[in-house]
Amino acid sequence: MKSLESIISEMTLEEKAALCTGASPWTTTPIDRLGIPPLTVSDGPHGVRKVTDVQSLGAKSLPATCFPTASCLASTWDLDLIHQMGLALAEECIALGVDVLLGPGVNMKRSPLGGRNFEYFSEDPFLAGEMAVALISGIQDSGVGVSLKHYAANNQEYQRFMINAEVDERTLHEIYLPAFEAAVKRCQPWTVMCAYNKLNGNYGSENKVLLSDILKKDWGFEGLVVSDWGAVHHRVPSLQAGLDLEMPGPKPKRVQSVVDAVKTGELSESVLNEAVRRILRIVFKAAETPKGKQFDADKHHQLARKIAAEGIVLVKNDGLLPLKDVQHIAVIGRSAQVAHFQGGGSSHINPTKVAQPLVELKDRANQTEFAFAQGYSAGEDFNQDMINEATLIAAKSDVALLYIALPSSIESEGYDRKNLHLTGQQIALIKAVCEVQPKTVVILNNGAPVSMREWLDLPAAVIEAWMMGQAGAAAIADIVFGRVNPSGKLAETFPLRLEDTPAYLNWPGDGVNVRYGEGIFIGYRYYDFKHVPVQFPFGYGLSYTTYNYSNLHVSSSNFQDRDGLIVSVDITNIGLMAGKETVQVYVRDVNSKLVRPFKELKGFVKVHLEPGETKTVSIPLDFRSFAYYHPGYHQWITEEGEFELLIGASSEDIRLQTVVHLQSTVQLPSILNRESTIRDWLEDSRGNKVIANLYQMMQSQLSQIFGGGGDEQEMNGMDALGFLVEMPLLSILEFQEHMLPSSAEEMVDMLLAQVQQV
Ligand code: BGC
Repeated sequence: MKSLESIISEMTLEEKAALCTGASPWTTTPIDRLGIPPLTVSDGPHGVRKVTDVQSLGAKSLPATCFPTASCLASTWDLDLIHQMGLALAEECIALGVDVLLGPGVNMKRSPLGGRNFEYFSEDPFLAGEMAVALISGIQDSGVGVSLKHYAANNQEYQRFMINAEVDERTLHEIYLPAFEAAVKRCQPWTVMCAYNKLNGNYGSENKVLLSDILKKDWGFEGLVVSDWGAVHHRVPSLQAGLDLEMPGPKPKRVQSVVDAVKTGELSESVLNEAVRRILRIVFKAAETPKGKQFDADKHHQLARKIAAEGIVLVKNDGLLPLKDVQHIAVIGRSAQVAHFQGGGSSHINPTKVAQPLVELKDRANQTEFAFAQGYSAGEDFNQDMINEATLIAAKSDVALLYIALPSSIESEGYDRKNLHLTGQQIALIKAVCEVQPKTVVILNNGAPVSMREWLDLPAAVIEAWMMGQAGAAAIADIVFGRVNPSGKLAETFPLRLEDTPAYLNWPGDGVNVRYGEGIFIGYRYYDFKHVPVQFPFGYGLSYTTYNYSNLHVSSSNFQDRDGLIVSVDITNIGLMAGKETVQVYVRDVNSKLVRPFKELKGFVKVHLEPGETKTVSIPLDFRSFAYYHPGYHQWITEEGEFELLIGASSEDIRLQTVVHLQSTVQLPSILNRESTIRDWLEDSRGNKVIANLYQMMQSQLSQIFGGGGDEQEMNGMDALGFLVEMPLLSILEFQEHMLPSSAEEMVDMLLAQVQQV
């Protein structure tokens, strides 16, 4: 086979330009004379949406397994399971002739209102990154590519094609980029999909900082960058910024514009060649995986069920669950009959089959009598008769299972939610049913937090079942009857009120710009720091058993940042039922120069325990577990000192903790400049040496001026030295310029030059 470079050298300019734009909505341009096949892509992310006709954007898709959506996946906290899902997705791609699956999405859940939150993992970048790595490695290990999306700061649907996200550098690096970074550095996704929106003034498709500087240069991304569908506005600038492949196609005018730009010299052919090189690498890599085998739909349905069972979160249980020997059960709610298991938009899968809640319940309890009432309709209308019908059967039963699904008209790609509430009908239904039947279990299907404040006290139990995938109904029934012990934990905070959420004041922007004013404080980072009470904290979830935490050990309590350390802890199942516990490790920097969140998740592990069993789990922490991004240095830094390691069953349920001492090995360049304060100079190890004498002089001058009164540094009712250290050195010198041999600026420049010599 010819080398890539010789193929490129044989390509005409027109062929190169054509390769960089899709031939159809779902395929790249083949070039038969050079043996270049098309690359076929399909949505993603929680199933394969292979359309029956690649020439059509919205064609019907072939049956494929609809796995739970990302909110549910992340709530499993089970990396092995997510890896298995990746393997299964790859098998389906191979069977359906798909080279690249368009997913996963690793955008952060900045606000619970985001319309696509169901497609994203978490409000925590570390958890989202771990999930992405597990899923991507499963898919790509099988010879199928992924498209990591939507890069970056694509956190709302309102004006999603145009909005300019204003995100400061530190926030970008600490919150919105790490999940992408982890996936790129650890699994080299074949493709990365740029976001529609602008980031700090530039479209995702034209953002050189994101596409070339950070992604390709800093992180070493070797794959190709593909546009989100329709995200390219100017083809030539997008190529120059690092956007290799434009989708969808065909777009002959765009292709011609690239040809013309090379001919006139506006676009260097080497830029085009680099895009071609990246695309061809992936095209030929994909061609190495023979397509067309069958996949085992039943096996994948069972896997989807297992994942759902681990991702579903039991958020309240007064002891009613699991149900035992119940004679009469009232099953209420439209979604008990018609499962609500996925969200609307490009991720919509044509499932191979769908488990229905009512059927699954009956299958597991053939001695029990079931009555059913619909309770509410598909829309948002109010209907008292339906509520009356439901209360009638609830009152006559021993237990009511109330299935509540948020309508698709409220939650989907393309638009955001307006509030956190269930529909008026659903709230009234819950209240009415619970009034006549306190033994009620509310089972929720939604992709993001809903407010429960109005009714949470009423039912005996609440299950957050998410958009649980095609087999989710079976998983719910397993949990209800105790065949599975729930082990899901929330990968996002459930707030009490919308007004409490971090982005509340800056959501969704003015139609042109949206300012990420809450900065690094999203999700639990915000609630924690501000002591804002929440409905359910990040990492929370109940079980039918109880776990005990003991024997916390660290491999070294005084360690160098680059060595990291290993935390180990014993977990014991002290209850009567086997189960799985997710142990979470949060790190807290006790003292830092810049403000940091109170604590941040930096490690976790999920462990299976039989009743009475104890296991020791070990969780590694590395440099990044302790570092933060310093916008002055434009890099991740650690600061010498004490860190607390907090081991918890949730972000608010810390069971064990210890303090370790970090020795920083980061050699920081001096960032002193003419505006630096005395404090900056003193805190800079080299600057400190340079101004040591000068600072001493200043101190003694101060005591001469203000000394004698007993209160050495008191000046106009303030601490003179305290006042002095917060002033720029330049300003202090300017006050005394008449006494200096040269201008204050020259003096400071001279000192700055000395810093470079130290
Ligand atoms: C979505 C992407 C999706 C693409 C192709 C876009 O509108 O934002 O997530 O992969 O369409 O369907």
